[in-house]
Amino acid sequence: RIYPVILSGGSGTRLWPLSREHFPKQLLRLSGDGTLLQQTVNRLRGLPGAAEPLFVCNEEHRFLVAEQVRQLARAPLDIILEPVGRNTCPAATLAALALARVDENALMLLMPADHLLRDVAAFQRAIGTAASLADEGYLVTFGIVPTAPETGYGYIRKGEGHRVDAFVEKPDAATATRYVESGEYFWNSGMFLMKVGHWLDEMERRCPDILAACRTAYGDGAKDGDFYRVAREAFLACRTDSIDYAVMEKTDRAAMVPLDAGWSDIGAWSSLWQISEHDASGNVLQGDVLAHGTRDSLIVAQHRLVAAVGLDDVIVIETPDAVLVARKDRAQDVKEIVNALKAGN
Ligand code: GDD
Ligand code: MG
Repeated sequence: RIYPVILSGGSGTRLWPLSREHFPKQLLRLSGDGTLLQQTVNRLRGLPGAAEPLFVCNEEHRFLVAEQVRQLARAPLDIILEPVGRNTCPAATLAALALARVDENALMLLMPADHLLRDVAAFQRAIGTAASLADEGYLVTFGIVPTAPETGYGYIRKGEGHRVDAFVEKPDAATATRYVESGEYFWNSGMFLMKVGHWLDEMERRCPDILAACRTAYGDGAKDGDFYRVAREAFLACRTDSIDYAVMEKTDRAAMVPLDAGWSDIGAWSSLWQISEHDASGNVLQGDVLAHGTRDSLIVAQHRLVAAVGLDDVIVIETPDAVLVARKDRAQDVKEIVNALKAGN
C-alpha cells in the first residue's frame, strides 16, 4: 500500500506578509479550492492503494492542521508533532519509523504540503509508475522539465531507463544555467516514493546519527489524541538536514519519473501571479481591489479596499497589520524583509 506523508513544517518566508511563522504558506488559501495543504490531500483522492495520509508538522501548528484535515472529513493516520523544525530528513525519518510499525512493506509517498498541481490524473499516473520502481528497490523522484535556471531547486540528470545519474541540490546560478541549457536536467519536484525499509537502510548508511536521534525521539514519544508527540530533548539533539542533501545526492538507488502535471511550488509572489488566471490587463486581483491603468500585477486585499492607478508589474499584498509593495521582478527579495524583521530591525 501507498502511505502518503504530508510534510508540513516549513514557513515559506517569501510569501510574507500572508505567510507568517504562526501561519505558514501551506495553511493558506492562495489559488483554487482550499488551502495548499487541503489541495495536497485532495489530489490523493481515488489513488489506487492509498492509505489515509500521515502528517508531520510543528507542534505549534497542530490545531490548524487538524482543523484543515477535519474540514475534508478525513481521518489522518496520525499527525506527528515536532517540537522544532529539523528540516525534511528527520521529518521523513519520523514518518518512516511510524509506518514501519504499521506495515513493513509500506510504500512511503513524501509530499510537500505547499505545492500546486493542476493535472491530478497525470500526477496519479506518475505515482503508479513510481510505485513499481519503488517496489524494485528505488528511491523515486519526480522530474519537472525546467523553464528557468532557478537556484532554489534540486536538479536531476536522467540516466539509463528510469535511473538517476546525478542529483544536485540547489546549485549556484552559473551551474543551474549550464544544467538548463544542456537540456539533460530536470527539476526535482520535492516528492519522493520509496519503501520504508529502503529509506531506513539509506539512513543507516548515510546519516546514522539522524536515524539514531529520530529512533529515540519517536520511540520515547507519546500518543496525544489525534497527535503523536515526539520526545522533545531527543529531537532537539537531532542534526538539521534535508532529504535532498542527506540522501538523494548520495544514494545510488535513485530513479526518476517525469511529471508533466502543471506543477508549481509557488516559491514567491511572482509565481502565484504567473500560475493564476489573468484578466484582460494581465492582472491577478483578489479581494476588494480597484485597478485603473494597471497591468501585469498581483494585488491582494484582505481587509481594506486597495486601489492602484497607473502601475505595471507590481505586487501589493494588503493584510490587517502589514502591507507589501514590491516590484514583481524583485519578489524573491521579500525574504530579506522577513530576515530583517526576525533580526528585530
Ligand atoms: N515536518 C516538517 N519539518 N516539514 C518540513 C520541515 C520540517 O522541519 N522543513 C520543511 N518542511 C516541509 C515544507 O513545509 C515543504 O512542504 C517541504 O517540507 C519541502 O521543504 P522546503 O523547505 O520547501 O524545501 P525546498 O523548497 O527548499 O526544496 C525542496 O523542494 C524543491 C521543490 O519545491 C527540495 O526537495 C528541492 O530539491 C526541490 O526542487
Ligand atoms: Mg519548497
